[in-house]
Amino acid sequence: MSIDKKFLNLFTKVTEKAAIGASIYIGKKDKIAADKGAVDPMRRELNKINMNGTVVIGEGEMDKAPMLYIGEKLGTLNGPKFDIAVDPLEGTKFTANGQPNAFSVLVISKKGGLLSAPDVYMEKIVIGSNLPKDLMDIDYGVEKNINLLAKSKNKKISDINACVLKRSRHEHIIKEFEKLKVNINYITDGDIAGALSVIGNDPKNDIYYSTGGAPEGVIAAAALSCYGGQIQGRLVLNNEEKLRAKKLGIKDFNKKYNINDMVKGDVIFCATGVTSGDITEGVKDLGNEFEVNSFVLHKSQKIIKSIKNIYNK
Ligand code: FBP
Repeated sequence: MSIDKKFLNLFTKVTEKAAIGASIYIGKKDKIAADKGAVDPMRRELNKINMNGTVVIGEGEMDKAPMLYIGEKLGTLNGPKFDIAVDPLEGTKFTANGQPNAFSVLVISKKGGLLSAPDVYMEKIVIGSNLPKDLMDIDYGVEKNINLLAKSKNKKISDINACVLKRSRHEHIIKEFEKLKVNINYITDGDIAGALSVIGNDPKNDIYYSTGGAPEGVIAAAALSCYGGQIQGRLVLNNEEKLRAKKLGIKDFNKKYNINDMVKGDVIFCATGVTSGDITEGVKDLGNEFEVNSFVLHKSQKIIKSIKNIYNK
């Protein structure tokens, strides 16, 4: 069963309002205020929608009681049952510093369609479409994965472009890439955009290879499920995080999640730019109005499009 197409515009309005809320804080060096600037309108708009929604990926877990916590019920509660994954502001640092690639994003599925992941790290390998199913495996290691990818893409290894989140925890990956002479494109934050840099007609990267947030992994998986791209992820859990994962129903802590383990059935993905970036343009303050730009996907309707809207202040 697919999600009614009328919901695409309703959910786009949610990320548009959240992006406008965050945009007030661009360059103001306050990550927390910027995040709240997105969270409050996102929650307000979601609660106006005629649905029975449950947050499965959110701003945190229930005991910390943030807004948009995992398990929070949203909407008028008398419409269709949806799972909701939100990242009201992906790129809090980018927003605070006035840098590119900050956006507000959400994903909707039918109830039970999205993995409820705790707010922990996830090892991730992401590749684009038209490649053999389950080509990559985290346990193969860097060298074998890159060899398989180069062979499948009919490329020389030195022509493979890899996106890596610049963190010291990735030194072993970077060393291997350097040894193999893979071209590395670093990002300083924002691994949803990093993961999605492998899709499209002329993708910037052939592979995204890093450990970032698990929530971001599920959100990226939803977008990739609309394109035919692939992701494999594995949660990185210490003992305390294992308890939190257990509460969310995760039994196998070492499970490698492929795309179908993270996303099932129809999904809507909406991302609205806060600052301009690879996915979409940022919010433009036109004086009496805001111009907002979104990148939206609706799997069952085969919709992949950009939307521009104007809101009065
Ligand atoms: P926020 O904007 O929510 O802070 O996330 C930014 C981000 O770069 C994510 O895209 C990424 O998954 C995560 O932080 C990486 O975490 P860390 O900065 O701890 O390495």
